[in-house]
Amino acid sequence: MTIVRVALGARSYDVVIEAGLLGQAGERIAPLARGRRVPIVADANVAPYLETLRASLDAAGVPSEAIVIPAGEKSKSWATLEMLTDRLLDLGVERGDHVIALGGGVIGDLVGFATAILKRGCGFVQIPTTLLAQVDSSVGGKTGINARAGKNLIGAFHQPKLVLIDPTVLDTLPPRELRAGYAEVVKYGLIDDAEFFAWCETHGSALLAGDVARREFAIAHSVAAKARIVGEDEFETLGRRALLNLGHTFGHALEAEAGFSDRLLHGEAVAAGCALAFGYSAAHGFCSVEDAVRVSSHWQATGLPDGLAAAGIAAPAETLVEHMRHDKKASGGQIPFLLARGIGRTYLDKQVSLEDVRDYLAMQPR
Ligand code: GLY
Repeated sequence: MTIVRVALGARSYDVVIEAGLLGQAGERIAPLARGRRVPIVADANVAPYLETLRASLDAAGVPSEAIVIPAGEKSKSWATLEMLTDRLLDLGVERGDHVIALGGGVIGDLVGFATAILKRGCGFVQIPTTLLAQVDSSVGGKTGINARAGKNLIGAFHQPKLVLIDPTVLDTLPPRELRAGYAEVVKYGLIDDAEFFAWCETHGSALLAGDVARREFAIAHSVAAKARIVGEDEFETLGRRALLNLGHTFGHALEAEAGFSDRLLHGEAVAAGCALAFGYSAAHGFCSVEDAVRVSSHWQATGLPDGLAAAGIAAPAETLVEHMRHDKKASGGQIPFLLARGIGRTYLDKQVSLEDVRDYLAMQPR
């Protein structure tokens, strides 16, 4: 078992990582429940895990109520938020209560936001069931829903009170989704931990094939990295937390071009985006070509897209740059890019010219 503390003063909390933890979740949640009924919000995909969780809460003497919402990004909407907050109010949820989010990033983001605004803030517990949610979205308190104008444009920072991660739930995750989540694992190595990237090069394929010990190690390592960065810059104002967006600006353009659909999953877009960020950095002499090649080679070895062609994106460079202009990170017409001086040496560059980016993208094979 690993416990990572997210150190945020009064908002500090633990992330507990252990194979089989779901079956013991009740004991961990009981002190937060204070004998009151605990609502669990889950999507239909995690029905078997919902049963395990409820049995574990029962065994710990914690009554629960399940609220099942449709799986998929469409649930990050005003309509679902309204339905959910009404249900939670009908259940009599109070400020001191805790709502459990059991599922992937959609459930975590939705429940996090609902509890941020319900009675001006009540507690929530994250039990993430996808690799992406386990290593990224369940930790750090970014919550929200999508708007007509774009993804995650409405939301709040609201930290969970506890995060419980059971790596064995990944056994039933579709392999493509597992790989997409793995891109976010590797991202931590690319940002500031060259040794961890080298670990991924050696162990990534075994992890994806089902090795539990390697999964547990990679999740714990990723969560520790995320906790450190969030602890340094909780509200993304100091330039530290922004490093977690490595690959996201290029990736956002690809996702937008794919219509934010299953054609290209978020993690796949991040993988291609990281390869493009390193490729751009190498083309401008900021990092070595060898490092950029290592990134692409690792994506090839693990079945992730390493650029436009592999991501199935054939759009002209100008169209992709146009998508970037609508990126929510744009400020005063300038888009901050995460570039690299090498593996584990990512930095924020606020002066990148979109003309240079367009010229670089125009040269990429399609
Ligand atoms: N997923 C990026 C962040 O939490 O800041």
